[in-house]
Amino acid sequence: MPRIAYVDGAFTPHRDACVGIEDRGLQFADSVYEVWGVRNGRLMDSPGHLDRLFRSLGELRIAFPVTREALMIALEELRRRNRIRNGLLYLQVTRGVAPRDHGFPAQATPTMIATAKHIPQHKADARAKAGVSVVTAPDIRWGRCDIKTTGLTANILAKQHAREQGAFEVWMLDADGYVTEGSSSNAWIVASGDVLVTRPVTDNILAGVTRAAILRIAGELGLTVEERAFTPQEAMDAKEAFMTSASSFVMPVISIDGAQIGDGRPGETSVALRQGYEKLALNA
Ligand SMILES: Cc1ncc(COP(=O)(O)O)c(C=O)c1O
Repeated sequence: MPRIAYVDGAFTPHRDACVGIEDRGLQFADSVYEVWGVRNGRLMDSPGHLDRLFRSLGELRIAFPVTREALMIALEELRRRNRIRNGLLYLQVTRGVAPRDHGFPAQATPTMIATAKHIPQHKADARAKAGVSVVTAPDIRWGRCDIKTTGLTANILAKQHAREQGAFEVWMLDADGYVTEGSSSNAWIVASGDVLVTRPVTDNILAGVTRAAILRIAGELGLTVEERAFTPQEAMDAKEAFMTSASSFVMPVISIDGAQIGDGRPGETSVALRQGYEKLALNA
């Protein structure tokens, strides 16, 4: 079955989908994006992703004329046409096509691109069962990491560093040596006393939609949460560690920079939170 994309209001075969070469998303990364996880045919955490999308658009002052309702209808139709039961939906919105000039164009219509991808769920589940390793690297990103822009050069370099080290993810470090977040995920540890620790949301990390869901589930499970920065050493000494994102849900982390965390296997809190998230997704 051919993949289908959605570009500027039309469904089109993925391989034929295109945008103009003067699109500001391509020329300047003058664009934002969102990613929805799909589980059992359901888009997960939709309200949170829509809220963040419109916030990102607002921060870049991109006047996107599509309503939340219309957007959800298009995304659901894209999911249906691609027959995605488990996978991801990506949406990019750029400021549009205009002659190249750094300042905002006087007139431009935002470009919208949406694509869908199938993910073999058994592979993701097997990875979560085994846990993954992370390595650290300096966080060299800009000062507005709270905006989900497509300007991901630093994240790409960081992820590539992880791959070259044989790790699944990178945890980036601020100038003081504290973990900010992963290249495409939020970072967590379970410290002694079963205290969940994750960095507070400011302009130096992305407010993960999965992160917010996990905070709610942690509350329901009666876990104590501390929103504060932590160091790689604290992670090495922690009982457990994990990362969260729309694409990986809750992914247990079993080593950092080669040092084993806990007993080197996914911990019970991480597993409980992953199960809690999946349950939430299925009941959404
Ligand atoms: C830098 C960064 N941090 C955190 C996340 C996790 O966000 P979410 O849970 O909304 O997927 C992502 C997701 O892509 C990301 O790119």
